[in-house]
Amino acid sequence: MKKIAIFASGNGSNAENIIRYFRDNPNAAEVVLVVCNKPDAAVVKRAENLGVPVKIISKADFQNQDIVLELLKEAKIDIIILAGFLLMVPQYLTEHYKDRIINIHPSLLPAYGGKGMYGRHVHEAVVAAGETETGITIHLVTDKCDEGAILFQVKTGISPEDTPQSVEAKIHRLEKEHFPRLIELFIHDLGQDTMH
Ligand code: GRF
Repeated sequence: MKKIAIFASGNGSNAENIIRYFRDNPNAAEVVLVVCNKPDAAVVKRAENLGVPVKIISKADFQNQDIVLELLKEAKIDIIILAGFLLMVPQYLTEHYKDRIINIHPSLLPAYGGKGMYGRHVHEAVVAAGETETGITIHLVTDKCDEGAILFQVKTGISPEDTPQSVEAKIHRLEKEHFPRLIELFIHDLGQDTMH
């Protein structure tokens, strides 16, 4: 069984959804660790309430590969899921976990990706540009922001009445519906190939 670490920086509704999904489908994988760079982020409480250990790692400590790789090794982590994780993943990590780090981005990449394009900023830009559709992208993580191979995209329409808030709500619904399922498929395709 594969062991998942979720990296998150903020609210953590995706993290919670993924934890619950694999708790209910325990044959595929288990979320054994949440890593967060913000001690006061809501994701910390969400994970603790679900009994998943949380490790706070500061932005500076993320640059220290001994700290991070040791933590992941100790927990026997096979796959890392970024769910609203706002730091760039350091190169040592994209190399060590090559093709084993997955991110979710709240737009149809390559549109509305890159530096500064996260959370509400994405939806504000999409609405301001008068787009008629947006969506989510689930992709592999490399050391270039939002540029790894795309695993899955799904679209949703935007009507003239939509606001950044209502678009965000639509996106969150899509994320809840698809992200855990896609992780499960990805893990299935990895087969017996574990890291530890
Ligand atoms: C999600 O929209 C995700 O696509 C993006 O950041 C948001 C995180 O939301 N990367 P939450 O913290 O999971 O509620």
